[in-house]
Amino acid sequence: MKKYFIFFILTLISTTFLGCGGGTSVNDTAISNSTETEIINELFNLPQNAQNYSIFPPKIPQDNPITNEKIELGKYLFYDTKLSANQTQSCSSCHLQKSAFSDHNKVGIGSTGEHSLRNPNSLTNTGYYTSYSWANPALTTLERFIILPITGDDPIELGVVDEEQEEVLNRFKLDERYQNLFTKAFPDVENPYTLEYIVKALATFLRTLNSFNSKYDKYIRGDKTALNESEIRGMNLFMGEKAECFHCHDGINFSDSTTNEKSFSNPQFFHNIGLYNINGIGSYPDLNQGLFEITQQNSDKGKFKAPSLRNIELTFPYMHDGSMETLEEIIDLHSNGGRYIESGINAGDGRNNPYLSDFITVKNFTQEEKDDLLAFLKSLTDEEFITNQKIANPFAQDE
Ligand code: HEC
Ligand code: HEC
Repeated sequence: MKKYFIFFILTLISTTFLGCGGGTSVNDTAISNSTETEIINELFNLPQNAQNYSIFPPKIPQDNPITNEKIELGKYLFYDTKLSANQTQSCSSCHLQKSAFSDHNKVGIGSTGEHSLRNPNSLTNTGYYTSYSWANPALTTLERFIILPITGDDPIELGVVDEEQEEVLNRFKLDERYQNLFTKAFPDVENPYTLEYIVKALATFLRTLNSFNSKYDKYIRGDKTALNESEIRGMNLFMGEKAECFHCHDGINFSDSTTNEKSFSNPQFFHNIGLYNINGIGSYPDLNQGLFEITQQNSDKGKFKAPSLRNIELTFPYMHDGSMETLEEIIDLHSNGGRYIESGINAGDGRNNPYLSDFITVKNFTQEEKDDLLAFLKSLTDEEFITNQKIANPFAQDE
């Protein structure tokens, strides 16, 4: 009973002051400010008192306010293979909770077996990015991005190409569970069984995939025993001018392409960290040259978004193309100031890439510094996030 009451209150609150383009007036004065904040934090899976640590909810487009009912629908859709044309894959096939909503394939492998060029991103705190995909400044919201894995045909992921759409939408329209979920999520919409509303619900669910309960977070929030000495040394190195990691992996999300509901700006950055230098002219492998694929400017070769490093221990292999297996290799890259590939089609010295970021220099880490950095990166793992039943596969819970 209590559970349903809370559900009701959450719905009421979320539609009164998160709804309608962010109006902030709450009529019910019985609900104090602190309770409002607690309800918001609960809705987004943010820690209690998150605001005291500058953790605010993600930005939300005006035409897609968050509600509990949309989160619920989005969760079912995310885990349902009905959303692929041949009913073999769901979003969660490539974004698994136990791997912080990433998988362990080098690149994405779609429902018909086609391979993409890129490694599936972790969806940890995904609502906070200012651009989506590894390097595309035009994809500024989840809503813009999410249609791509559903309908894209190069490569095929879920494979809901034009000819398949009607049949796929009918699967939801004719299913009793979904009739209920769609009606509750979009009560004012005559026909919500469209890709537009499916995307809206998915985006809303994705905005609740928030992880702020790692050992590092507990340390920052005052538990001075949460990190050991090596992890603390690693943290100081990471945040300091020797290792310089923080220049690109900064803020609450360890990515410089981050924003939230309180930020006035939406900074977008793309960096070349010296993974390749094919033929000595700064090239990366064909068709996978990052920002260059969009702008065709040579100086944009090899530039990618700095991903969040939260839960990084769980999301191997690494980099836009999955070409690094371990965190140790990445720390070595930074020690050496880039990656040197001796032979093969991608041979070249990334350390001399003409478009290398100024922050990527020879750091010559000692073995202790390498161990400390590694220990710190692993302290960003959030066990509560990967086991949280609120964001887990609802079909598994039904069984
Ligand atoms: C076949 C595997 C596969 C499936 C299925 C899949 N994805 Fe992905 N996802 C990827 C890959 C690969 C990328 C990297 C895309 C790129 O940069 O080109 C990605 C990237 C993303 C991103 C961007 C994250 C960021 O940091 O930029 C989001 C959001 C996302 N996927 C959500 C979804 C949702 C929602 C679904 C279901 C509708 C889905 N994905 C289905 C493989 C998959
Ligand atoms: C100049 C900006 C910049 C600096 C400085 C930087 N990084 Fe990164 N980092 C990036 C970018 C961009 C990527 C993705 C590159 C790619 O895929 O081509 C990345 C990727 C990573 C990844 C893999 C992420 C994933 O999901 O695959 C790890 C781990 C990482 N960096 C750790 C570090 C550490 C540790 C330091 C400091 C020693 C550091 N970075 C310094 C920009 C930076």
